[in-house]
Amino acid sequence: MIVEPATAADLDAIDEIEQHSFKAPWPRSVFEGELARDFARIDVVRDPHVIAFNNYWLVAGELHILAIATHPDRRRSGIGGRLLAHAMEAARAVGATLATLEVRKGNLPAIALYERAGFVTVHTRQRYYQDDGEDALVMLCELTARRS
Ligand SMILES: CC(C)(COP(=O)(O)OP(=O)(O)OC[C@H]1O[C@@H](n2cnc3c(N)ncnc32)[C@H](O)[C@@H]1OP(=O)(O)O)[C@@H](O)C(=O)NCCC(=O)NCCS
Repeated sequence: MIVEPATAADLDAIDEIEQHSFKAPWPRSVFEGELARDFARIDVVRDPHVIAFNNYWLVAGELHILAIATHPDRRRSGIGGRLLAHAMEAARAVGATLATLEVRKGNLPAIALYERAGFVTVHTRQRYYQDDGEDALVMLCELTARRS
């Protein structure tokens, strides 16, 4: 499974996965903007078309996961975990020591993915999501200790 940086040619596929994956999907223009930011990255997995992506920031010594999604037909085959591990390695490579993210409290697949990667919940933001008032969990993972 090859993880590589997205290009502008991948934006339609990223947008399609986004639309099928989130309650309040971001518009394509958000990802277009992310490709232009030097601290932002979007990684994709291809087989041979894009089947998953991970949008994250490497800033101020931290990795911040913004959006990770696998095409609905390709879930539960290790792709999300692979993308997350790749971002954590990229962050370690530039000296980042902490990974952070927010996730909907009811998003049990994502929470399981993150916990398996070593994230722990440190805070609940009440009614964080504006579309439906769902709480957000704030999760952190120390990047200094390598997991076996
Ligand atoms: C969350 C998501 C990215 C996981 O992607 P994936 O490619 O299916 O993840 P993986 O196959 O690598 O799963 C890794 C581990 O996460 C956990 N996990 C993933 N999906 C799960 C589910 N539906 N139920 C329970 N645990 C789950 C499991 O521990 C799994 O390991 P296992 O399959 O060996 O038990 C995917 O479900 C998705 O795209 N969801 C919609 C978008 C989203 O909510 N993104 C997260 C918020 S930004």
